[in-house]
Amino acid sequence: MPEPQSIDPSHIPHHVAIIMDGNGRWAKQQNRPRLYGHKVGVESVQEIVESAMELGVDVLTLYAFSTENWKRPEDEVGGLMGLLKNYLQKELSRMLKNRIRLTCIGDIQKLPADVRQVLEQAMSETAQNDKFILNLALSYGGRAELIQAIRGIAREVASGALTASEIDEELIDNHLYTAELPDPDLLIRTGGEARLSNFLLWQASYAEIYFTDVMWPEFRKEAFTQAIIEYQGRERRFGRTSAQVESG
Ligand code: FPP
Repeated sequence: MPEPQSIDPSHIPHHVAIIMDGNGRWAKQQNRPRLYGHKVGVESVQEIVESAMELGVDVLTLYAFSTENWKRPEDEVGGLMGLLKNYLQKELSRMLKNRIRLTCIGDIQKLPADVRQVLEQAMSETAQNDKFILNLALSYGGRAELIQAIRGIAREVASGALTASEIDEELIDNHLYTAELPDPDLLIRTGGEARLSNFLLWQASYAEIYFTDVMWPEFRKEAFTQAIIEYQGRERRFGRTSAQVESG
């Protein structure tokens, strides 16, 4: 089948998750400090949120800060936290106007108090919005998420509320940070690396994965549209044969 060249509006992924990589290398190419790359990266965030909404995506998860990112130099961590706080403060009115609900996944207790306060306020003010979910992965790690889920389940088993044989996929789903969200259909990684970097390890089991060399600060509407077109050309079999998929 030839690859479709334009978007099929009836086959838009519900949930797109993105590893926004390449800010630092892009800045270096421009002979600018790393933080400049993150700053321009925020402009990409704004454009991709808008494009995702326009195309009819329901949920967009962005890997904004990983558990491993705490190991970066203090000024870079501080700079990223500042950009995040700024973004949330600046975008809140637009989120309210466009009925965007802000959610987050990760260990947000680790965030600086002022950033957490702005984040919690934005989440609570947008909690009733129903057009689009912008889900930020902050201080997020897939293994840490699984550990907290397993601990929660173990406590329930120890207390007698649950038996070991009752543990199934749905129960595990319900103990993850993403309990309220569908699994991602499409996972994009920018910046030329081809790995998952501890992102949505359980949830991405059946996601289509799309790697691109485009650095995040240059990943804009056109590149995003291209990723969706490629997604639409793939066949998702969920372990079945092509013939089974074709016969519905
Ligand atoms: C990866 O690039 C990017 C990050 C670690 C942070 C992403 C953050 C933003 C785009 C800005 C803040 C986010 C929001 C939602 C407002 P890198 O620094 O690892 O790049 P490199 O691999 O080229 O060094």
